[in-house]
Amino acid sequence: MYKDLMTINKLGIMEIEGISVKELEKQYQTPLFVYNQNILENKMKLFKDNFTSRFFKTEVLYASKAFCCQAIYNLAEKMGLGVDVVTGGEIHTALSAGFNPENMYFHGNNKSTEELVIAINRKIGCIVVDNDCEIKLISEILKDTNVRQKIMIRVNPGIEAHTHEYIKTARLESKFGYSTYNPDKIIELINSIESNPYLDFKGFHCHIGSQIQDPQAFYNTAKEMINFLKILKNKYNRKTDWLNIGGGFGVTINEEDEAMDYKLLLKTLVKVIEDALIANKMSLEKVIIEPGRSIVSEAAITLYRIGGIKETHAGKNYLFVDGGMTDNLRPALYQAKYEADIATKMNLPKNDKRTIAGKLCESGDILIRDYQIQKAEIGDLLAIYSTGAYCYSMASNYNRTLRPAVVFVKNGKHKLVIKRESYEDLIKNELKGVL
Ligand code: LLP
Repeated sequence: MYKDLMTINKLGIMEIEGISVKELEKQYQTPLFVYNQNILENKMKLFKDNFTSRFFKTEVLYASKAFCCQAIYNLAEKMGLGVDVVTGGEIHTALSAGFNPENMYFHGNNKSTEELVIAINRKIGCIVVDNDCEIKLISEILKDTNVRQKIMIRVNPGIEAHTHEYIKTARLESKFGYSTYNPDKIIELINSIESNPYLDFKGFHCHIGSQIQDPQAFYNTAKEMINFLKILKNKYNRKTDWLNIGGGFGVTINEEDEAMDYKLLLKTLVKVIEDALIANKMSLEKVIIEPGRSIVSEAAITLYRIGGIKETHAGKNYLFVDGGMTDNLRPALYQAKYEADIATKMNLPKNDKRTIAGKLCESGDILIRDYQIQKAEIGDLLAIYSTGAYCYSMASNYNRTLRPAVVFVKNGKHKLVIKRESYEDLIKNELKGVL
């Protein structure tokens, strides 16, 4: 659950791993992303330890789009995870962190020539191909090298998952992958891959969507994918070595979200795959999953300072914080509902109804609407929970806001992981005196 990362001290102040939010504010100012490193490590370990099988190798990739920085790549590597990267920028960050390129899987539906050249030259383990234009491009690049590149194909199993419209990816009209409903086309693609001695076809990838809270959706995906592999085997005599069933495991960000039992989910998922393989007399060399949000979301809070308290004529009462949609776009973009506390007044009852608004010039810049919270004063700190995923990674400089700092806390120690941006950072790419 999203509250597991903190405790409350005798003064009613929130602490993360024994460090009070007041101390963090003093040291790093606000807004501030605070990650509990023990939670990050425990989540990584939980996925790694429970996604194992006697019948096939397993691999857990951290989907780094959820929260991308060098420190998280270092942590993922230390915990034995591979990573999913989707742009040259993510590849660059991972390589700069010293992450082993062999354990990177490069996704994306429109990889540029430049990105593919980097991936191939830097020996990224596997490229997950989305379409045949990409195969042509990769073949062109490989012509001048001596590299044999591992390739997987992204497919769309057409599973409808119950999540927000924008984060569904496997509907039939989705832009991602090849529909498994048309195996002829996929076989054609594999044939073209295999006719190239520099390409090494390994298998298939799919990802049905994000923030999926029904475990059955993952079991159905696994069954559907094995069914598809069976068709390839029986009808086309084509055996597959690797299967990647993506990420998307749901997290709690509010009271209504039910915590998923990841251990049970992973064990059941492995069993579903094993049973389906046995029933169809099939085998796989390796099965891969790609959790992003489920590793990082609940591990962090965002700390804000309350700078304004306002009662409107219409009776809507606000708390104004020093960040907003620039550090958490999710309420505005997906109507995501977050939970918060006045982190400096944890002992008070939550009986003051407030709308928590950011500081940006936009009426949609609301973090939480009509929310019962402790009565706050100017200078109090507000903590929003479960902001570890897709908040910092989707942050922007709208209104020339500075991206916040990120700090990791573990066993009573805090470490700055990403500095707050400076005003100089904002203009560093601008040419002076052009006009
Ligand atoms: N693998 C692939 C191929 C993906 O496209 C994604 C997410 C993941 C793994 C990881 O999914 P996760 O375990 O994090 O749910 N910005 C949106 C989420 C977009 C997710 C895109 N792909 C949000 O804030 O909800």
